[in-house]
Amino acid sequence: MAAAKGKKGKLTVADIAAAAADGRKLTMLTAYDAGFAALVDACGVDMILVGDSLGMVVLGYDSTVPVSMEEMLHHCRAVNRGRSRALLVGDMPFMSYQTGMRDAVVNAGRFMKEGGCDAVKLEGGMEVCDAVRAIVRAGIPVMGHIGLTPQTAGNLGGFKVQGRDLASAKKILAEARALEEAGVFALVLECVPGELARAVSERTSVPVIGIGAGAHCDGQVLVTHDLVGLFERFAPSFVKKYAELAPAMKEAVSCFIKEVGEGAFPGEEHTFSSGEPLAGLLDEEE
Ligand code: KIV
Repeated sequence: MAAAKGKKGKLTVADIAAAAADGRKLTMLTAYDAGFAALVDACGVDMILVGDSLGMVVLGYDSTVPVSMEEMLHHCRAVNRGRSRALLVGDMPFMSYQTGMRDAVVNAGRFMKEGGCDAVKLEGGMEVCDAVRAIVRAGIPVMGHIGLTPQTAGNLGGFKVQGRDLASAKKILAEARALEEAGVFALVLECVPGELARAVSERTSVPVIGIGAGAHCDGQVLVTHDLVGLFERFAPSFVKKYAELAPAMKEAVSCFIKEVGEGAFPGEEHTFSSGEPLAGLLDEEE
């Protein structure tokens, strides 16, 4: 069941906390434009994340690293125009919060003031706790992100499951506790064994939103393009495709090309008629 079902107006971080405290499973999905935002919002998703995954999914980069503040803000504004109820979370891009407390607070503030976001998300464990504290102190809700952190995946041995051995599992649990203590309102936990995700969810008071982290989290997040089968470059094994939109779209586009070539489109029903007979139009011109 969605957070604060029946509530009028936009959801707040307090609604998210209350829903999790009631034992309701939270949902978060990505959107990068107004159209997708309106669609997922109308379905009742609790949170919309303008993820820096937009770098790969819609901007064509090879990773999330090149994504800039300006690109993120441009897409946040579009998503904000399309959503009406879901809490809007903006993903702080690489190097927008690692270069000092001032940069972290100023950039988080831009997500709120210029992007229309309700909260920001940033990746990392102990090394980002000071930044989290500073942003929270400025009155901006922060969502943490630990486990597999795509912005620094190279340091983690690539895009692979984290926390498989006892030492690294303990480290992730300690990071979750440190972020909770620093003031995050929720945590994304990416690509870890289900057993570890369960331990993190049970041992922290903030909602844990899993992605590739099994069923025992307080909620789940996916990249919407993955969920609907619209991103073909790669598909992580933890994704469930609820639709296959890419093949359907290719078929539709191929039909259009074929029908235009054959003169089958546009037909009579797609053509406007004139208000009065225009039979003499060409003669008059001559
Ligand atoms: O950038 C993103 O879309 C994310 C989610 C996958 C959690 O960080």
